[in-house]
Amino acid sequence: MNCIFLRYFTILEFLQIKFRQSAFYLRTLKSKLISMLSKKMQAALNEQIKIEGQSSQVYLAMASWAEIQPGIDNVVAFFYRHSDEERMHMLKLIHFVNDRGGFAMIPALEQPTLTYPSIKHAFEELLKHEQFVSESINKLVDIALQEKDYATHNFLQWYVAEQIEEEALARTMNDKLELIGDDKSGLYMFDRDILMVSVQEEGA
Ligand SMILES: [Fe+2]
Ligand SMILES: [Fe+2]
Repeated sequence: MNCIFLRYFTILEFLQIKFRQSAFYLRTLKSKLISMLSKKMQAALNEQIKIEGQSSQVYLAMASWAEIQPGIDNVVAFFYRHSDEERMHMLKLIHFVNDRGGFAMIPALEQPTLTYPSIKHAFEELLKHEQFVSESINKLVDIALQEKDYATHNFLQWYVAEQIEEEALARTMNDKLELIGDDKSGLYMFDRDILMVSVQEEGA
């Protein structure tokens, strides 16, 4: 009697071990199927999360500095809105990485430049920064192709289009400021013009 009981007990134990092994195998298989980003792609996307977050900080600092300059309320609103947009770019990347089985790591950010000699200087820095971001997006696209990650490649096309728009806008503003020079009434007109840019962006 004891011997039969022992045999049933051993079989039960054996089945339990097999069940646990199968469950572990299924969990590993599932995580492999869900994780669709290569390590290289995930690291590059995490780097871009930092760049977008840093962009948001840079424009937030510009907004705060512009806010204490007299008479350029629309420029101030433009910088604050631009900072919000960069945060949105960062969030979009965070959700993408996590949705594809990766892990979006929230980075520490650097202290941005706090003051500028003039509005013109601030917009020059804005253009330089956007050109830097465009280069970074291009490198990401390149990595997506190297890794044959066509889903990420497709996702990044939104950023490619966005950078074309942002660089063009920054160039137009720099051209206008170049024409204005030190003319204060010109700066007044520039502030009115930038309001139109905001209205157009909201309508788009
Ligand atoms: Fe951005
Ligand atoms: Fe941008």
